[in-house]
Amino acid sequence: MVRLTKYTITALLSTLIGISANAADSISDFSLIDAEGRFFQLSRHANQDAIVILAYDNDSRDARRAVADLANMAEQYVEQPVEFLVINSTDIVDKAVMHEEAEDEGISFRILMDDTQLVAKELGISRAAEVVVIDPKPRKVVYRGALSRRYAKGTRSQRNAGSYVGEALTALLAGQDVPTSALASRGDTLDFAAKTANLESVSYSNDIAPILENRCVTCHREGGIAPFAMNNHQMVQGWSPMIRETLITKRMPPGQIDNAYVNDFHGVNQITAGEIQKLVLWIDGGSINTTGIDPLAALNIKPAKWLNGTPDVVIDIPAQQIPATGVQDYRHIVLPLELEEDIWVKAIEFEAGDPTVLHHIIAFSFGPDGMNEFEILNQGIGLGAYAPGNELNLYPENSGYPLKAGSGLFLQMHYTTSGKEAIDASQIGLYLWDEEPERTILGGSAADLDINISPFSTKEMVATKKFRKDSYLTMLGPHMHYRGSDANFKLRYSDGREEELLNVPNYQFNWQKTYDFIDPLFVPAGTELVFRGTFDNTEMNPSNPDPSKTLTWGEQSWQEMFFGFFRYVEASDGE
Ligand code: HEC
Repeated sequence: MVRLTKYTITALLSTLIGISANAADSISDFSLIDAEGRFFQLSRHANQDAIVILAYDNDSRDARRAVADLANMAEQYVEQPVEFLVINSTDIVDKAVMHEEAEDEGISFRILMDDTQLVAKELGISRAAEVVVIDPKPRKVVYRGALSRRYAKGTRSQRNAGSYVGEALTALLAGQDVPTSALASRGDTLDFAAKTANLESVSYSNDIAPILENRCVTCHREGGIAPFAMNNHQMVQGWSPMIRETLITKRMPPGQIDNAYVNDFHGVNQITAGEIQKLVLWIDGGSINTTGIDPLAALNIKPAKWLNGTPDVVIDIPAQQIPATGVQDYRHIVLPLELEEDIWVKAIEFEAGDPTVLHHIIAFSFGPDGMNEFEILNQGIGLGAYAPGNELNLYPENSGYPLKAGSGLFLQMHYTTSGKEAIDASQIGLYLWDEEPERTILGGSAADLDINISPFSTKEMVATKKFRKDSYLTMLGPHMHYRGSDANFKLRYSDGREEELLNVPNYQFNWQKTYDFIDPLFVPAGTELVFRGTFDNTEMNPSNPDPSKTLTWGEQSWQEMFFGFFRYVEASDGE
């Protein structure tokens, strides 16, 4: 008797019926932004029993019909931990366009924008209307193929009989092996750059090293805040699997904002879809340096002290001792300035004492009447902020930040440990106007102090602030604590029209970023600034220290806050 091995059986079956699914393919975790600008990370959905993803392409009739069939099918699973999603890996990368299309087609699923097309590749999707079923806990694709007989290759069936995905779900939910009798999907081939990209066209010295230098080396250098230095090819090669993971999950560079807004603000950490494609292609090809030239090894980074020239006032922050290990609470430092007269700050710069441990500083000010933490928080975010690569804070032309005689600074400082004890003696440099400038930097916030978030739940909050006079908006700074998971700012004009200004899809308490507009934005009187954010107090939020707590407003990091800080100048000022 001839015994077929498992391999020959699979091979035989695939040739017979053309299965494209290689059951139980392991996939890496990934993150994508959806067409509404919200963040999706696979590992944060590991509490689902199944995740179904359909490849959408508006040009494909099959895909449009399949979405409707999937919607019918999803109705049977509303009571079950099954999540249905659509992925767009086509060249439509504009969320607004996709959003409109979704409305026209009546698509009610979340649409994940696979702008690098790397997730389609990871999932093994190659055709429009193709469906994958993922078992999210072990992160395995357990089914890949046609949604139903109607979409299968080689069939002309118009009936929607025989839902392969339904069979796969039934098996998965019952803890059984997923049947492999499905047919491959017939839909139009998705041709995407990531799939057809050619490794030969990417070289370490010409492509990879310059990307890393631009996007990563500010922090990933000797003496930088990041845990390893990208200072030669071997180092990068060794860290490659980890680099791939951080790119696909959008964890690095840290504090990313929606790509649509990266050019509107100073000092945003970002990386383009094309750059991610190149890096991942190169890593998947073995992270090889074919030319032998190593631009990263040749880099000589010695950050200049005082980028803006010698400051008018240098303030020494009292030296801080940082232990070798352990999570550091935020430190708050009150620094009276002993000013005898009012001054006008033109710019503020931070000089990190020990950049291996200093994570960020936010410099608030307080007035001659002394410290009132609430007032401080409500004034806007103060003078400026430090983060690696963001030392200098410049205000718009002809404007200054007033510091009155008798006032002082209130610093929020965040440290991370580096494995070695450290002492950080950072400095602040103030650049002053000789005379009162035409415009005064003002601050404010769209805030809601009435916070009440139940254990194991998510909650969306919205706060607004109306501009009474024509103004120019110069800075935005979302502020929540550990449960803050996304945030965005919009303007709502008096005619009701809304315009989004900034979207932070994966808000991280650890990266308290403030966003200075490159060109201050004119805001007519009567316009409202709308700050929206989501708190994720579930166990699926990796930053959540304790999902069983009810959260109310409070200054401590185990409590919550909801501040949409902003800075502005009045338009009539100086006229
Ligand atoms: C603004 C500073 C900064 C920039 C820019 C930055 N990193 Fe990081 N990176 C960090 C810090 C800090 C850590 C330590 C982990 C953390 O705090 O999230 C880190 C950790 C990492 C890790 C290790 C992950 C782990 O789990 O330990 C990798 C890999 C990495 N970064 C890759 C990159 C790549 C690739 C880029 C550029 C595309 C980049 N980083 C840009 C600061 C930065």
